[in-house]
Amino acid sequence: MMPPSPLPNRLPRATELAHGLIATRLGPGAIAIDATAGNGHDTVFLADRVGPDGRVHAFDIQAAAITVTRQRCESAGVADRVRLWQACHSLLGEELRQAGEATESAGAIMFNLGYLPGSDKSCLTRADTTLAALRKALDWLAPGGLLTVVAYPGHAGGDEETAAVETWSAGLDQAAFAVATYRFLNQTNPPPRLVAVERRLPDPASRTK
Ligand SMILES: C[S@@+](CC[C@H](N)C(=O)[O-])C[C@H]1O[C@@H](n2cnc3c(N)ncnc32)[C@H](O)[C@@H]1O
Repeated sequence: MMPPSPLPNRLPRATELAHGLIATRLGPGAIAIDATAGNGHDTVFLADRVGPDGRVHAFDIQAAAITVTRQRCESAGVADRVRLWQACHSLLGEELRQAGEATESAGAIMFNLGYLPGSDKSCLTRADTTLAALRKALDWLAPGGLLTVVAYPGHAGGDEETAAVETWSAGLDQAAFAVATYRFLNQTNPPPRLVAVERRLPDPASRTK
């Protein structure tokens, strides 16, 4: 049985809504990708959802993030289903292929951009590698699967990166993908934004043609 939705009873933060949307579709036995493992919160969330028969591939460029994520997964008892990759997420295609994953097999893919909280703020995601990674990630997104991006326009370079993600996602073919965004409109400091991309399920009518 799927665990209950993690949404709170107030307007959720972008990160919380990402979890809530993914929880509607990611269940036991699925494959998921965390493109920015960081402190491992999203990796553990995905690993809980996919259960012992599922798999999570988690990427981070920093050794410190991989170490913290490994420890968090071990403490949560989900390390058995998590594969950690210390690599730039723009290379995720090569790593997933090496791991034997089929394209269009991931039920959920998460990007939580920016820097590792509590660490060196100079190591942060950048528009060029983020866009390269997003383009590759779409190849792994299953029909009906969801890719979420939490972007932070409030820090240096974050506005440019957020705009690049929005421009890229807004240009995706609407016959193949549904794209939506969520953000608070009345906050003084630019709040994080969620961009969600769903690969549409094939139209049943087109399958009979
Ligand atoms: C906001 S944190 C992620 C938070 C994380 N999802 C969690 O639940 O704790 C962003 C992470 O992206 C990582 N990062 C930055 N550039 C990257 C890249 N090119 N490839 C993969 N990870 C990258 C940083 O090292 C940092 O740990």
